[in-house]
Amino acid sequence: MEHLVINGQKQLFGDVFISGAKNAVVAIIPAAIMANGKCVIENLPNIEDVTSLVDTLTNIGVKCEFTEENTLIVDSSNITGYCAAYESVRKIRASYYLMGAFLGRFKKAEVAMPGGCNFGTRPIDQHLKGFKALGAEYTISHGIVKLSAEKLVGSNIYLDMPSVGATINIMLAASMAEGVTVIENAAKEPHIVDTANFLNMLGAKVKGAGTDVIKITGVSELHGAEYMIIPDQIEAGTYMIAAAIAGGDVTVRNVIPKHMDPLSAKLQDMGCVIYEGDDSIRIVSTGNLRPTNVKTMTYPGFPTDLQPQMTALLCIADGTSILTENVWNNRFQYINELKRLGGNITVEGRVAVVEGVKQLMGAEVNATDLRAGAALVIAGLAAKGTTTIGNIKYIDRGYEKIEEKLTKIGADIKRVKSERI
Ligand code: EPU
Repeated sequence: MEHLVINGQKQLFGDVFISGAKNAVVAIIPAAIMANGKCVIENLPNIEDVTSLVDTLTNIGVKCEFTEENTLIVDSSNITGYCAAYESVRKIRASYYLMGAFLGRFKKAEVAMPGGCNFGTRPIDQHLKGFKALGAEYTISHGIVKLSAEKLVGSNIYLDMPSVGATINIMLAASMAEGVTVIENAAKEPHIVDTANFLNMLGAKVKGAGTDVIKITGVSELHGAEYMIIPDQIEAGTYMIAAAIAGGDVTVRNVIPKHMDPLSAKLQDMGCVIYEGDDSIRIVSTGNLRPTNVKTMTYPGFPTDLQPQMTALLCIADGTSILTENVWNNRFQYINELKRLGGNITVEGRVAVVEGVKQLMGAEVNATDLRAGAALVIAGLAAKGTTTIGNIKYIDRGYEKIEEKLTKIGADIKRVKSERI
């Protein structure tokens, strides 16, 4: 078993190179199996979610070849089926994209209900509603979703809420349906635009991604293509918050500054200085921070996937901050771990009230999910003494070489093998 050991209170200086976006790549790899031909995916993040997806696809005859560390070639000419069993998908939430991809390509799919991070109910009713509107029948039995359609036919689908997963899944299946599909109340996150751009490179006809109405004109065949994944908005935000809490002068490189606006604005409110470049953001912080209020929202609002990291930062702000989680109904499970580090936080339903403390103190803690793990790393960077974080398999799902990237900018963080945690 591995854990991360951090000796806190080191200021951070230098450059961090941001990897490709996790939440784009976990949709783009499934999309690639709909193509008749090789897809070359560049700027691939080297994270566990990618490894798990690649293993799942390799099991059904898809040839996945890493040509360089961050490039993957997906060739599904010899794909043998449309089933993904629990054993292979249990580690990744985004395995649900295999439903849309299999359905598009084979008009059939059998995929175990997804695993992944656990923070409250994570229904897929909007995905299923979309598939049904395209003409698919489905059953759920023994934890497996089985979908089949004589043919897929375009339809108008109004989502009850702007779900990222449902928007992408419907885009995947509708790309290979007959006729036109319109998704209304679609989600607008950057990874939705990235997936739509990739599909269009394969020959699909997706228009309007990034707005709340997406129109997809189905095509009968998709071909291979070369594509570069966008930078990870959440990884970039995590390092910006790390710099804010530790103090110092850090430039995150390979980012799309526009994607960072909701976070940059909050960090400025708190007293950090932000300089935007074409594809970089420099953040200068003294570590003396003002409190602020944060409400998570769908893009372009403040991302829920930066909520735990932001809570860690607010722990040492000079006063009271209020954080409201509007996307997930139970994303505060990590708060008890932050309290072990000295955070003074009260949770009431979807609201966390954070009373800033002068200092966090190192302790042994456990990651409860991916972003919760990132929040504990951030808190550990500011804490006095040693913080030991267990359950780091969650962090590895979505952060490439986190300890190497942080060490490079001056953090004292090590990955250690141990049986203790
Ligand atoms: N929802 C439903 N029914 C559905 C789908 C969603 O009720 O059929 C609800 C959810 O319960 C939630 C809200 O709608 O309250 C939003 O869920 P959404 O479908 O947008 O989330 P997701 O697609 O499952 C993706 C990211 C998450 C991120 C959310 C919100 C991927 C692989 N995952 O999840 O990322 O929190 O969007 O932005 O893209 C992470 O990276 O740490 C992570 C959890």
